[in-house]
Order: sequence, then structure tokens, then C-alpha cells
Amino acid sequence: MNKILVLNGPNLNLLGTRQPEVYGSTTLKMVEEQCVAHGTSIGLEVSTFQSNHEGALIDAIHQARGTQNGLVLNAGAYTHTSIALMDAIASVELPLVEVHLSNIHARESFRHKSYIASVALGQICGFGAQSYVLALDALAAHLKSGDVA
Ligand code: DQA
Repeated sequence: MNKILVLNGPNLNLLGTRQPEVYGSTTLKMVEEQCVAHGTSIGLEVSTFQSNHEGALIDAIHQARGTQNGLVLNAGAYTHTSIALMDAIASVELPLVEVHLSNIHARESFRHKSYIASVALGQICGFGAQSYVLALDALAAHLKSGDVA
């Protein structure tokens, strides 16, 4: 069974109460439970981690090397700023799908730039909590195809 780590970055612990008009009313706990349940239904063993700290996210990415088969990452605002996260992802050579609840390309221009995108298999954004489910489907299909990239 392929193992996938779903990582959430800063402020995503506040999902459900944080700007619900932008991010919806689903809590992080609900998102994580949905990821585990959907993962099981498509043959993935999903674990989850959230941190508001860039270094903790980097440590989790490093620890995924050799223990996980792929990553789903919503880096929150670090998406738009963190060369360190980008370098960590490039270093571990694991397939990663970038996720956002909101459509970052339809929002402020500073959200259009993603450092994660350049080291991700692809990006899914704008579908609320469903973005994570779509990311798991994409990762499962990728791992099944046996493609290296
Ligand atoms: C987000 C989009 C980011 O721009 C923002 O900083 C977030 C959440 C999203 O899921 O839509 O924290 O990653």
C-alpha cells in the first residue's frame, strides 16, 4: 500500500472559522479525516501533519524520504515565499501535489506566484476541501502509472 503524507502549513489549523467566505466551513480535522477515508478507499495509507512553522514542515518533508511514497502539500502563505520549502521538496525526490482550497490565481497578485509549483507534479486549487481528494486521486494515478517524474 502506498503511503502518502498530507501536509498543511500556517493558519490552516484555523480552517472552519478562518475567513469561511474564502476557505469554507470545513475544519482541518474534517479535511484530514476525509483524506484518510478517501485514501483508504483508493488504496493509499494517508497520514497527516499540520504546523505553523516553516522548519517543522521542512523536517516533516525530510522525514518523508524513505518512509512515504508521496506528499500532498498545502503550504498556505509559505507557498508564495518559501525557497526553503521548495528546496526541501526538491531534495527528497518524492512526488508531490500542491493543493489550495481557494483559487490562488483568481486572488491578489502576490498569491499568483508559487515556489512549490516548480517542484510539484501539479497544482490543484479552487475546489475547497475537495482539492485534497482530487490531489490524492492524482497522486494515486501517478504512482500506479509508475512514472518517475
Ligand atoms: C491557501 C492560499 C494561500 O494564499 C493562503 O495564504 C492560505 C491558504 C489556500 O488553501 O487557499 O493560507 O493555501
